[in-house]
Amino acid sequence: MERVVITGGTGLIGSRLKELLEIKGYEVCFLSRSSKKKEDVTFYSWDIDKKEIDSNAIENTDYIVHLAGANIGEKRWTESRKKEIVNSRVSSGQLLLNQFKENKFKLKAFISASAIGYYGAITSEKVYTEEDLPGNDFLGKTCEKWEESISDFEKLGIRTVKIRTGLVLSKKGSALDKLIIPFKWGIGSPSGSGKQFMPWIHIDDLCGIYIKAIEDSKMEGVYNAVAKECCTNNTFCKTLSEVLQKPFFFPNIPSILLKIILGEMSDLILKGSKVSSTKISQSGYKFIYPKLKETLENVLNVHPK
Ligand SMILES: NC(=O)c1ccc[n+]([C@@H]2O[C@H](COP(=O)([O-])OP(=O)(O)OC[C@H]3O[C@@H](n4cnc5c(N)ncnc54)[C@H](OP(=O)(O)O)[C@@H]3O)[C@@H](O)[C@H]2O)c1
Repeated sequence: MERVVITGGTGLIGSRLKELLEIKGYEVCFLSRSSKKKEDVTFYSWDIDKKEIDSNAIENTDYIVHLAGANIGEKRWTESRKKEIVNSRVSSGQLLLNQFKENKFKLKAFISASAIGYYGAITSEKVYTEEDLPGNDFLGKTCEKWEESISDFEKLGIRTVKIRTGLVLSKKGSALDKLIIPFKWGIGSPSGSGKQFMPWIHIDDLCGIYIKAIEDSKMEGVYNAVAKECCTNNTFCKTLSEVLQKPFFFPNIPSILLKIILGEMSDLILKGSKVSSTKISQSGYKFIYPKLKETLENVLNVHPK
């Protein structure tokens, strides 16, 4: 039985990935800051600041899926939160890397999360591909440092895959939980100009891509994980209203209001680039949920007649 260790596995993506990997017969363990044990999963602990890690998590492990990182949408981006967002990713990646530099542990592949924020949040008609350079804003620089922190895995001869992920849509626990509230009340509307792109992906497709990255030894380097149907904020909000069968006529939420409430974090809502899914499709991955309407119906348990 092959063993997969997921860092940050207690979060949204890791929890679902664990379920799907176990169905396929993998042994799944979590590497976590928490010492709380769950009965159905083996927990190993690490303390990233103290550079401590339980080496049992690494020894005899076939694959590491590195998802750990402070949530970017949870708290206002103060200077200290920004440091936490960066350090939780960069220091954790380096800590893992050092284990492999210092020991002769064998690993079949190291697969890490990254985000489409890599390209910078720029509203334009340009379609960003994996070849494009990082953006100049906070998320662009964060993703660049995040990916750099683990690039030496390749130098150690370990197959490395980086998954630049769009907005993950799932039944519960995703950003949709907050976004949907005004729409349920029938007062939902686009944000800012509504023209910014919102590349998204169904959680089962994202986990499918992680599983493919584990199983397909030809997969190496960077892949965007977004559905082909890349829509604007306006289209996303309109489709959400249709699926919920709620009105959609309220004026757009002014950018200035969101900037006052959220500060720099409003970039997550007010800006967004168009991102290509061509490379992952050409690798042979077949999306289960390529279309937004069907995806929203699935995650919101809406069954159209
Ligand atoms: N969800 C999305 O829409 C989305 C989009 C693009 C990229 N991503 C990236 O994909 C990865 C997984 O996403 P997710 O949605 O599953 O995230 P999540 O639900 O926020 O979970 C992330 C996990 O990381 C660990 N963590 C939290 N704060 C940390 C810190 N300060 N230092 C070290 N570890 C910390 C936690 O695990 P423990 O408490 O067990 O340590 C947590 O359960 C993240 O890196 C995220 O940036 C997600």
